[in-house]
Amino acid sequence: MDFVHISEAIKKGSGKVAIRGWVYRERKLKDKVFLVIRDATNIIQCIVSNENIAWEDANKLLIESSVEIEGNIYEDKRAPTGYEIKVDKLNVIQFAEKYPITEDQSPEFLLDNRHLWIRSRKLTAVLKIRSTVFGAIHEYFRNTGFYEYQSPIIQSTQTEGGSTLFEVNYFGKKLFLSQTWQLHAEAGIFALEKIYTIAPSFRAEKSKTSRHLTEYWHAEMEGAWFSFDDVQDIGEALIKHIVGKVLEQNQIELKILGRDPKKLEPTLKKKFPRLSYTEALELIKKKFNLKLEWGKDLRTIEEDKLSSLYDTPIIVTRYPKVVKAFYMKEDSKDSKVVLGCDFIAPEGYGEIIGGSERESDQKKIIQRLKEIGENPKNYEFYLDTRRYGSIPHGGFGCGVERVISWICGLDNIKDAIAFPRTMLRYNP
Ligand code: 4AD
Ligand code: MG
Repeated sequence: MDFVHISEAIKKGSGKVAIRGWVYRERKLKDKVFLVIRDATNIIQCIVSNENIAWEDANKLLIESSVEIEGNIYEDKRAPTGYEIKVDKLNVIQFAEKYPITEDQSPEFLLDNRHLWIRSRKLTAVLKIRSTVFGAIHEYFRNTGFYEYQSPIIQSTQTEGGSTLFEVNYFGKKLFLSQTWQLHAEAGIFALEKIYTIAPSFRAEKSKTSRHLTEYWHAEMEGAWFSFDDVQDIGEALIKHIVGKVLEQNQIELKILGRDPKKLEPTLKKKFPRLSYTEALELIKKKFNLKLEWGKDLRTIEEDKLSSLYDTPIIVTRYPKVVKAFYMKEDSKDSKVVLGCDFIAPEGYGEIIGGSERESDQKKIIQRLKEIGENPKNYEFYLDTRRYGSIPHGGFGCGVERVISWICGLDNIKDAIAFPRTMLRYNP
């Protein structure tokens, strides 16, 4: 008999089926063994009775043993997924050793055993949503005329500030892991005009927060001729597309995670509010009596307060030049601010997109580099993009795990990726 996935067996609902997978739960009674079997698609309860030739094997099975099962499926409202299989044949592929993960383990223990914990219902659901999110990003950009393009991971300069750079000993030379694809992407638009990538970015973040990884997946786009408004419009359309796809394809997983899909629906339906940094400060002061000096970057507390006022992501624009990266374009109406924007997710999930229109004036970039203590000589290739056919352009970067955390309603960003990397977590 051909094996089918558990979801297909349940869809069939009656008659003979053959499934294979792993023992998710087992309960041994005097005359019956209840086995809950899981595969990538679902779980199902299977019953072996003492008249069955498989009785002896069934009694030896421990959690995560791998098995093939043939039997009759029928509806049973009491079973965990509403159906049950009466086992005719049980073929044990491997009798598992005693599984180290039992109920009520500490988060640290589960992280130490991450290679096993990814089999859990919770992480399996997150990983399925993650797959949808990656697919949706590719789909969005490809459907709107972007080329997929790659920047090097090993780079010779910083882009997003020296404090979060990871050094690489490169044959005795000090080089760095990529914080962003951006500088090389800005070179790429002169060939392809509209480009995107999904690649790992690295940040030596010493902070232990629920939002920071040291290795995260970064969806970035860059486009020739893009204005500051274009950057915001594309970011908003991308987030809407991702959320739409998850709502379309992952209702079951959202349910497993206890995530109310209604929380995500406003993001699809409403336009994201756009407000300037200065307006954001005024709003926080008025609503929460929280004062932040103009010129200081928004901290977690300000971002969280701000996001609590809305049920969609919001776009904060025109930050003070001093808190933003050297490549952001100066606002022609106010030289103290730059045409940069951050998308802040609802429910306190923080910044999910950072983007800007880029400074096209070579002299201004050189000036800014000097101000932050960088030697413009090290950025010669980048400055060439402003020497040979410089054009208005812009782009953004989206932290994919931040988006997944928010969509799934996770407590910690570590659960948005199979094998998280933080300052203290690099195993397994
Ligand atoms: O705001 P950031 O630093 O912007 C850039 O890197 C730009 N060069 C992107 C561009 O314009 N092409 O990072 C972009 C996004 C943030 O908004 C956040 O969502 C995510 O990357 N991010 C992180 N996600 C997880 N862990 C970290 N340590 C992150 N640091 C940034
Ligand atoms: Mg940022």
